[in-house]
Amino acid sequence: MSAVTESGVVDAVTKELFIGGKWTPATSGATFPVHDPATGAVLCEVADASASDGMAALDAAVSAQAEWAAHPPRERGEILRRAYDALLARQEELALLMTLEMGKPLAESRGEVAYAAEFFRWFAEEAVRIDGGYAVAPNGSGRFLVTKQPVGPSLLITPWNFPMAMGTRKIGPAVAAGCTMVVKPAEQTPLSMLALARILADAGLPDGVLNVVTTSDAGGVMEPLIRDGRARKLSFTGSTAVGRLLLEQCADKVLRTSMELGGNAPFVVFADADLDAAVDGATVAKLRNAGQSCVAANRFLVHDSVAREFARRLADRFAGLRVGRGDVAGVDVGPLIDAKAVAKVAELVDDATDRGAQVLTGGGRPDGPGTFFEPTVLAGVDRDARAVREEIFGPVAPVVGFADDDEAFALANDTEYGLAAYAYTTSLDRALRVGAELDAGMIGINRGMVSDASAPFGGMKQSGLGREGGEAGLEEFLETVYVAL
Ligand code: SIN
Repeated sequence: MSAVTESGVVDAVTKELFIGGKWTPATSGATFPVHDPATGAVLCEVADASASDGMAALDAAVSAQAEWAAHPPRERGEILRRAYDALLARQEELALLMTLEMGKPLAESRGEVAYAAEFFRWFAEEAVRIDGGYAVAPNGSGRFLVTKQPVGPSLLITPWNFPMAMGTRKIGPAVAAGCTMVVKPAEQTPLSMLALARILADAGLPDGVLNVVTTSDAGGVMEPLIRDGRARKLSFTGSTAVGRLLLEQCADKVLRTSMELGGNAPFVVFADADLDAAVDGATVAKLRNAGQSCVAANRFLVHDSVAREFARRLADRFAGLRVGRGDVAGVDVGPLIDAKAVAKVAELVDDATDRGAQVLTGGGRPDGPGTFFEPTVLAGVDRDARAVREEIFGPVAPVVGFADDDEAFALANDTEYGLAAYAYTTSLDRALRVGAELDAGMIGINRGMVSDASAPFGGMKQSGLGREGGEAGLEEFLETVYVAL
């Protein structure tokens, strides 16, 4: 593609199902619309798969499994490496496509394409490092040979908030391990995944290894595949509520699961923190993707001695940010994904103010079309306010005071979630204590972002099961087999 234009990037995507290496319309001929959340306009229509299309995709994945498992690891890695190069070469057009269907500012979309590509580079390198073990039985009576095998056909369900990176974070290790797959992207953002499927096919991925079904009926298409029994793994990123339901469905055929679910990340600012650095980190942790991330800072727990000053500085920072359509130069914060998301965020702000919170900046929707919400800072927030207890998934920062470290840790852990946490302190002792005390799978110390393709991403408690990225991400797609000799 020469000039990167809005219509050009949308037109370039094949808006059909990708099954067994072929692009195909839904058998019913149905399609569903993809919207631009910044304007509400329909960008295009894509194929709307039914249960029988989903089953055809699983058939294709099952047929390709044995041959793919036997494919040399080096070649599996090289496919990923070629796809990594292609993603970077096409960063600009893929970023615009993502901004159009998801809303995030172009700079963030470029960042996500690079982040997405990193998963392919990482797992390209890991594909050739799948090893095993050999041991003598402790009583000398035999030998143990330990090998790793692909877990088998896998079902991958990806979210709308990071429509490409959450795909590569699952597809990368599945390809590296030798698993075939059926991918179902979120209904709101199918285009990034369809573009990714084309890139992988062009990079040499054999037919049937990756199958993509776009659908407006996620449950109707995926539940039969989960219950079928031929798929051996489900990897899901999304809400805890849907994760629970999927876990129940997986129990029947005892599927391996990776669940990357909701969060309620505390962002703890201790009295000894560098406040300017904390405001920088808080802005990233809160406003990346307009707060629509499961690792977004949800609650700002700030020592009483600096709470007022921190909230004031954060409000000044937020007030200077520009909200708008993601492809407009200078825009810092894009729209929320849909009107329902805006209504939920507005409800949480109202609940906090009803309980006495003060709005330091923002607090509402700007005038005009699109599903926007202003970057908002709330001070003096009640500890039981819904914005403190529930995942906000929007650009709202509730600030809550604490008196001492023990109280900060107790407040931070007072949630059913345990995905990410952040802390700002200049004391090494305190930083180490944070690492030991907080119930979270990922902890950022003096930084507002923890995501990295080479690190194990995941949570504890009701934030999920398993890890993605890093060495652990590959293990999730491997079975351990031991042969007694
Ligand atoms: C997520 O919010 O689902 C993932 C964010 C990330 O990988 O940084």
